[in-house]
Amino acid sequence: MSLQVPHRTKAGGSPSTKAVILVGGPSRGTRFRPLSLDVPKPLFEVAGHPIIWHCFRAVTKVPSIKEVFLVGYYDESIFQPFIKEMASAYPHIQVRYLREYQALGTAGGLYHFRDAILKGRPDRFFVLNADVCCSFPLGEMLRLFEEKNAEAVILGTRVGNDAASNFGCIVSDAHSKRVLHYVEKPESHISNLINCGVYLFSTECIFPSIKSAIKRRTDRPRLVSYPSSEALDSYYPTFSADDDDDDSGEKNEVIRLEQDILSDLADSRQFFVLETKDFWRQIKTAGSAVPANALYLISAMQNQSEELAKPSANILQPVFIHPSAQVDPTAKLGPNVSIGPRAIIGAGVRVKESIVLEDAEIRHDACVLYSIIGWSSKVGAWARVEGTPTPVREHSTSVVKNGVKVQSITILGKECAVADEVRVQNCVCLPFKELKRDVANEIIM
Ligand code: GDD
Repeated sequence: MSLQVPHRTKAGGSPSTKAVILVGGPSRGTRFRPLSLDVPKPLFEVAGHPIIWHCFRAVTKVPSIKEVFLVGYYDESIFQPFIKEMASAYPHIQVRYLREYQALGTAGGLYHFRDAILKGRPDRFFVLNADVCCSFPLGEMLRLFEEKNAEAVILGTRVGNDAASNFGCIVSDAHSKRVLHYVEKPESHISNLINCGVYLFSTECIFPSIKSAIKRRTDRPRLVSYPSSEALDSYYPTFSADDDDDDSGEKNEVIRLEQDILSDLADSRQFFVLETKDFWRQIKTAGSAVPANALYLISAMQNQSEELAKPSANILQPVFIHPSAQVDPTAKLGPNVSIGPRAIIGAGVRVKESIVLEDAEIRHDACVLYSIIGWSSKVGAWARVEGTPTPVREHSTSVVKNGVKVQSITILGKECAVADEVRVQNCVCLPFKELKRDVANEIIM
């Protein structure tokens, strides 16, 4: 298939922009379990909305974007209700799910669906990893893109030196903001400016770059890319010796932006970094939903969102309460609490830094701190379910207790029950479990 590349700017018109949100697929990784046993991670609700809603809403604020693609390898039906809802809330934006028939990698999916992305000859498009929580300063990225006449812009943030090698690392010229060097998860320290998983690419630059990477791959098939960091253990690529230049992309498509494209862009293209000082973190482990919930709630509070509960003696802002939830007026909630649809919060309950999901019930005088209470789970009277506080900007959700690394956030999966007066501390509890005695630092299977 030949690649049609549009002109940089449409004659006489303003540059048009699209957006792609990379949603991944039903990963074999275990990091978001037990929550992903019941809902695909991008649809898990933080601060009252699915994780991808936060990405999507940022995209809707860019006036030139009229079309958004969710690209992934989940079943078609998974995102239909979300797409329907977005289509009615934002009628001027067309939203489509493009399904990869297998994991194609972060660049392979873009290339596979290049005709859909290039339709209407957009000049540039955003790519957002769905599993990051941030303020998505897309407007600032666009401004930098235009000011520098860039071919690619990446969003970067500074992290502690010890955390940097868990991410893509960027070496840049502080003055010009040009990316000089990019290494994905380096073994030794090269920079603490890391890749946030948000990009803006010119269509003229990125598709030929992916095509060259596919060609290199075809010429040297041992240079394998894994479709996702979550699938390193289980992925076995297949190769065909008779790939030719034009359809090689159809047979050997696992191509990752991070491993196969970005370092080349740094070497040869107009590639710039926008360093954000605003909040950013990944949503990888189930526990990381709690700090992500806090960051989005704090941001909603700063933006005076009407969705948040009004502050009072018993509501310490920010708190989100779904309109169908029942909260006893003597319960004390917050800060950084989300209460899902039809949840019931009894008298004298205390909830802090936690997410209580749909149909869960917290009975009177129970205490829930740094935890996620799964769908339809029950916490008994005077029970205590708690995790350990970690700074909201810390990039890990584990702590060491008695010499053992455990999750800092306590998580009850779907339909768990904690008996009256029982204490659950730093535990991850799989769905349908009953906890009748005190437990600490355990995974309850
Ligand atoms: N459509 C699609 N197809 N999406 C994919 C695929 C795929 O084959 N593989 C991964 N994704 C999506 C994931 O769902 C996630 O939203 C994003 O792409 C990146 O996921 P990973 O491949 O697991 O990478 P990572 O999260 O370990 O690292 C990436 O993100 C970091 C920031 O969060 C890299 O870009 C790092 O450099 C970066 O620092």
